[in-house]
Amino acid sequence: MKPIRIALTKGRLEKKTVELFEKMGFDCEQLHHKGRKLILEIPNQNLEVVLAKAADVITYIEHGVCDIGIVGKDTIIEYGGSFFEVTDLHFGACRFALAGKKGFDFYAGHAEKTIATKYPNVTRKFFDDKGIDVKIIKIEGSVELAPLLGLSDAIVDIVETGSTLKENGLEVYEDVAQISARLIVNTVSMKIYQTEIENIINQIEQVLRESEKK
Ligand code: PRP
Repeated sequence: MKPIRIALTKGRLEKKTVELFEKMGFDCEQLHHKGRKLILEIPNQNLEVVLAKAADVITYIEHGVCDIGIVGKDTIIEYGGSFFEVTDLHFGACRFALAGKKGFDFYAGHAEKTIATKYPNVTRKFFDDKGIDVKIIKIEGSVELAPLLGLSDAIVDIVETGSTLKENGLEVYEDVAQISARLIVNTVSMKIYQTEIENIINQIEQVLRESEKK
């Protein structure tokens, strides 16, 4: 049988995912010493791991070139897509928030506000739900710079510890959504490799239950 291929989000979620795999008894040697290798093996498990940017994890799962993905709810909300969202992994917990310069009264006045964000769809929906028109400017990183430079009135961004906001004289005006890492599965893979995939999901859920007890 071909290996089950798992797409992991690089960066913030990576360390926690490797920890999860180790608790499942997986040998993560290749994941720890990956060098420039892109497709990594988990010995004795018939599993392959691909490390990818968050949005690409969704693309690989949707197209069925990877069977299982681990990705943040932020990316799922922003990009959507057709796959099964199976399990809330609880790690990578953070939130989307509307934030900006300290003391600024965001909802005061009638002038249209400008929002900088890496997440234009999340931002559009948040303000559409409130019936408020805003101008959205897409930024690729360090979104907090936008209000500091005078590019925007506020940002919609991820807040984890809050230290980036604090160190830059910014504050949260309002929470937008809670976020954590999710396990997603390609819909066809779920049928073809049902036993293998359910087995992996069960192992993950068992580790999650055990860590909840601690
Ligand atoms: C994210 C987010 C904030 C920061 C929040 O950026 O966009 O900038 O983390 O974390 P904190 O509340 O713990 O300070 P990331 O580090 O992923 O990099 P980026 O800004 O280059 O996208």
